[in-house]
Amino acid sequence: MDIRKVVIPVAGWGTRSVPASKNIPKEMLPIYDKPVIQYIVEEAVKAGIRDVVFVASQNKKVVEDHFDYNPALEMVLREAGKTALLDKVLHAAELVNIMSVRQKKQLGLGHAVLCAREIVGHDDAFACTVGDDLMFGENVPAGIPQLVKVAQEHNMPCIGVMEVPADKVNRYGIAMGDEIEPGIIKVSGLVEKPAVGTVSSRLAIVGRYVLTSDIFSYLDKVKPGAGGEIQLTDALAMRAADRGLLAVKMNGLRFDAGDWVDYLAANVYFGLRDEKIHDDLLKRIRSLVQA
Ligand code: G1P
Repeated sequence: MDIRKVVIPVAGWGTRSVPASKNIPKEMLPIYDKPVIQYIVEEAVKAGIRDVVFVASQNKKVVEDHFDYNPALEMVLREAGKTALLDKVLHAAELVNIMSVRQKKQLGLGHAVLCAREIVGHDDAFACTVGDDLMFGENVPAGIPQLVKVAQEHNMPCIGVMEVPADKVNRYGIAMGDEIEPGIIKVSGLVEKPAVGTVSSRLAIVGRYVLTSDIFSYLDKVKPGAGGEIQLTDALAMRAADRGLLAVKMNGLRFDAGDWVDYLAANVYFGLRDEKIHDDLLKRIRSLVQA
């Protein structure tokens, strides 16, 4: 199974992040010194993926521009001798190839993936990740790299899952099934945003997928589901019933950048990982907590 591209839907309004995202795409909000989207693209790069397909709407050009050169800024940094900063700016520009397709109406995650059909439909398989959930593993592959490995070993599409509290299942797609190997579940059913108390499973889809090209024929058949949207979860439920699907318990940490507590926690986490600011940041946090 050859996985060369990652599809990242970035067309949503980001209403959870308003007013911060009023005129800035939510994917461009910073987590410490990088925008959210760079963490997600870097995760895909760790899986050897170099082709990124943004499924975008109007006003998302800055997301694409972040992964391109900015000659004026580069010149300023070069002339000022700020080479460390220049390297960071160039790193983002040289990370991946960018393709983009318009999602002209925001009809759901499944619809967003359908919009990428002409670009990825001829590949055997491709990765897909939502643009606002960060996954990070310190010394273990987490997110897309972990999923790609399992998908290739089993020659099967895969979804990333994590256990969530029973009273939060209504925020996610929930997977049911039997564990066939430690951390790998053969999916027997999927339900998008079930009401609390209606499902026994607490395995939530965390917005990480390795999809095979047959997903498009299932998406063609999907009727509007939860929230009136064309749900990727519903197409995956059909695929699971017909030809199988695996759910993989994800390693590492997850931060939902659209949730303010997670967003702020991610800033603290990635800030503390930088030894240049670790001590000062910790001191500051301690004094704020005591205040
Ligand atoms: C989407 C998926 C859902 C998944 C979630 C993870 O929902 O439809 O299955 O659990 O991403 O973030 P959304 O958050 O876009 O409503």
